[in-house]
Amino acid sequence: MNSTDVRRNFLEFFQERDHTFVQGSSLVPHDDPTLLFTNAGMVPFKDVFIGNAARDYVRATSCQRCVRAGGKHNDLEEVGYTARHLTLFEMLGNFSFGDYFKEDAIKWAWELSTERFGLDPERLYVSVFRDDDEAFEIWKSLGLPDAKIYRFGEKDNFWTMGDTGPCGPCSELFYDLGEEAGTSSEDVMGGEGDRYLEFYNLVFMQYESRADGTRIPLPRPSIDTGMGLERTAAILQGKLTNFDTDLFLPLIEEVRRATSQTQFDEQGQKIARQVISDHARTATFLIADGVLPSNLGRGYVLRRIMRRAIRYSYQLGIRKPFLHTLVPLV
Ligand code: SER
Repeated sequence: MNSTDVRRNFLEFFQERDHTFVQGSSLVPHDDPTLLFTNAGMVPFKDVFIGNAARDYVRATSCQRCVRAGGKHNDLEEVGYTARHLTLFEMLGNFSFGDYFKEDAIKWAWELSTERFGLDPERLYVSVFRDDDEAFEIWKSLGLPDAKIYRFGEKDNFWTMGDTGPCGPCSELFYDLGEEAGTSSEDVMGGEGDRYLEFYNLVFMQYESRADGTRIPLPRPSIDTGMGLERTAAILQGKLTNFDTDLFLPLIEEVRRATSQTQFDEQGQKIARQVISDHARTATFLIADGVLPSNLGRGYVLRRIMRRAIRYSYQLGIRKPFLHTLVPLV
């Protein structure tokens, strides 16, 4: 399934279930000094979760461009070296503002994954927050054996958007890419390896973290989910990495064509192509949303991203200005 169809299927699935389609927002969060970039699909809805704003719908679905470089969620240094980290990705989300809660969120995530996207249930694993027996039981009722429902702690299964804002325990879905994706001691559920790929996160929004360090209950328990478009496209295209999907291949090929004299070995060249392709996407989208390279804040993060891409291009033997030639492909 190509990435356009992944995006369309997700949004249609939730629109069929009475979710209002909401356009993704800018990467520069509107009126929110606590965030460098929009780093999750829930960011435009933050005030709705904490009860400071209302919308004329209680269910929404969106596709939100996200940047995770700088700030709390920062994947910059990982990018290029793993199969799954990106500085920019598209997050598909379904949201409930005080309407449905755990049961429907879990049930629909399973139906979407196994029926609409046709994923093999044998390859699916899930995690829940350590004492979330309710989520555990809902997964079990859908047919998952106990052994495939993992209980993890705060680091993995309690989602926060930053130091402040709405937060709550979460439940994640993982797809086993098989031994081909890795066989190290980290290629286990909960490990850092690429074999068990987390592709969908269901957050049970229940609290708000305040600047004074306290956590208060939200006015109404809510749902915030995020499915990674690039990761899901990789799974559905039978690929082991984001970089082998239709979203990246044209960029990767263009960098390969431009490569000349390089001291990098094959693996080094591959990493460089991945870094450059990811960073070209991020730079293009940030600039389109009005960020310009500078010495401060957002502009400085953009500058670092561009500098990292340019450095890797140089190491591939590219001596002419090159990064901008990827913009039309992005
Ligand atoms: N906010 C959660 C996340 O970013 C779910 O979308 O993973």
